[in-house]
Amino acid sequence: MDGLDALKQRYLDGIANAADEASLEDLRVSAIGKKGEVSLKMRELGKMTPEERQVAGPALNALKDEIASALSAKKEALGDAALDERLRSEWLDISLPGRPRRQGTIHPISQVTEELAAIFADLGFAVAEGPQIESDFYNFDALNIAPEHPARQEHDTFYMHRDANDNRAPHVLRTHTSPVQIRYMEKHGVPCRVIAPGRVYRADYDQTHTPMFHQLEGLAIDKDISMANLKWVLEEFFSAFFGIEGIKTRFRASHFPFTEPSAEVDIQCSWVDGQLKIGEGDGWMEVLGSGMVHPHVLRSAGVDPDQWQGFAFGIGIDRIAMLKYGIPDLRAFFDSDLRWLRNYGFSALNMPNLHGGISR
Ligand code: PHE
Repeated sequence: MDGLDALKQRYLDGIANAADEASLEDLRVSAIGKKGEVSLKMRELGKMTPEERQVAGPALNALKDEIASALSAKKEALGDAALDERLRSEWLDISLPGRPRRQGTIHPISQVTEELAAIFADLGFAVAEGPQIESDFYNFDALNIAPEHPARQEHDTFYMHRDANDNRAPHVLRTHTSPVQIRYMEKHGVPCRVIAPGRVYRADYDQTHTPMFHQLEGLAIDKDISMANLKWVLEEFFSAFFGIEGIKTRFRASHFPFTEPSAEVDIQCSWVDGQLKIGEGDGWMEVLGSGMVHPHVLRSAGVDPDQWQGFAFGIGIDRIAMLKYGIPDLRAFFDSDLRWLRNYGFSALNMPNLHGGISR
């Protein structure tokens, strides 16, 4: 057959110079596609004499094979080049530091609550909780605060709404965590050793008071628990919390309807150049109320006061958080100001525990 060599050369050159897969495909169709030049020549074989066909047949087959394998070799080469190009342009420096993400912080109240739970857990206290909407009975009566008792006024209580013809005693937003004493003893009996942290509410607002704040109640009831045990527990607690060995406390006689005797507790501190230092100097700062649980209170919770006795205390969580971390204004705790939260907040990875040290 004539012209085969020229045809072959034309296609092999075309393939060698093809710039992309699309032009390769065009070449394939026009050479060995159904109506391609080589295919048309193969159709002519039928019209040849057997002698002619014996020469032309193998030649055409060889030509077809040669073009086909040139096409696939070139296709592969183009693929490699495309991959090389991607590797060059999509290059990524995996040693670069990551882009920083905005991170939240743990609120000082949450942090201090965790610290308190860790310290009291170490002293054998479990954690209890009670409702923030409380009945008049648990918030007052059961705690030996009768309806006409002046303490009800002192508490600046928020009362829940009742319909005009509804004569039941109103529910209140609990004014302290002490109702959890009653609820816990009713449910679990005695002996017991628990703390109850949580939100409490009083209608009051200035630099050191907000309508919602946090208390931690402590309760320990057994056969022979005394004020001495109370003093030891509180001094252990303050030393651990402020990280100061042998911190001094002062017990001042006081009055709470639900404890007898009652004591307000101060910790040693100094004021120098407007700076407060805990655990030194000859000043005192009031931090909590406490006492021996009143027999009426034990009885309200179904506990026999002739067999059982113990202490209770209530401490302001916000207050001691301010003291420990030097936070000057209580109101800022609840303003949700991101700048404040970033400054006073804690890293989520900084979980308080006794072994890692409680402070930051
Ligand atoms: N409930 C008291 C208050 O809110 C604190 C307290 C608790 C005092 C337990 C004595 C015993 O002021």
